[in-house]
Amino acid sequence: MAIETAVLSAEPNTSNAGGPHDGEVIVTDNLWKTYEMGDQQVHALRGVNLRIRHNEYVAIMGPSGSGKSTLMNLIGCLDSPSQGKYWLNGHDVSELDDDELARIRNKEIGFVFQTFNLLARATALHNVELPLIYNGTPASERIDRAKAALESVGLESRMMHKPNELSGGQRQRVAIARALVNRPSIILADEPTGNLDSKTGDEIMALFDELHSKGNTIILVTHEPDIAEFAHRVVTIRDGVIAGDNASTRARGQ
Ligand SMILES: Nc1ncnc2c1ncn2[C@@H]1O[C@H](COP(=O)(O)OP(=O)(O)OP(=O)(O)O)[C@@H](O)[C@H]1O
Ligand SMILES: [Mg+2]
Repeated sequence: MAIETAVLSAEPNTSNAGGPHDGEVIVTDNLWKTYEMGDQQVHALRGVNLRIRHNEYVAIMGPSGSGKSTLMNLIGCLDSPSQGKYWLNGHDVSELDDDELARIRNKEIGFVFQTFNLLARATALHNVELPLIYNGTPASERIDRAKAALESVGLESRMMHKPNELSGGQRQRVAIARALVNRPSIILADEPTGNLDSKTGDEIMALFDELHSKGNTIILVTHEPDIAEFAHRVVTIRDGVIAGDNASTRARGQ
């Protein structure tokens, strides 16, 4: 019976106004995001309270339009909330200026998107090098680190290929190498297998497993229950609020 009621964190959507505890890398309190569309308002998030500890592996699920990508963008500091608080690695994000925010985002977070978001005219190596160019890493170190990141995803033989000379799974591996090149502690992936066949998707998920076992925190948005099963915790969003927060079957079986 205990298994059926297993909940890894607090009850869904209880207040987190007290901020982060030791070991928590992501804490949101009453996070709202409202998009203004002319005279209409779209409440994409309506008070999300979430706590994620270091080295957790979390899947976020929920119907289309429920607010998953909006939440990922806020967690990744790609956008700011309309209301509420967000602490990333203990920092209250609303108190950081733009430079500090860019620095913490660059250092702490690696983003992987459904559509890969690679530069079409650049080689795999150059795509992976880009985040290092943005943060001013010297050229020689840049190349070494980009090569190492590509090797870590098994693409050492494809470094000089451009995205249209790679398979979908290889493109996503380039995007993962790009997300890893700054050695972030948190990997955010929004439908990383959404454009891949199931076998290639499983290969990408094996990479996430490996990253998780090396100590990274992983948060992954997916529509597919099979993919969510790779995670240890499944958070469900409906209409902009957290509707469920449970151990995955895999975690329960451990
Ligand atoms: N830039 C924007 N401007 C206005 N409304 C937006 C914007 N981005 C998202 N929305 C709206 O906010 C709501 C949540 O969108 P979001 O992209 O977070 O959903 P999602 O859960 O990721 O859906 P999907 O599974 O289809 O990717 C939707 O109703 C969407 O129409
Ligand atoms: Mg989305």
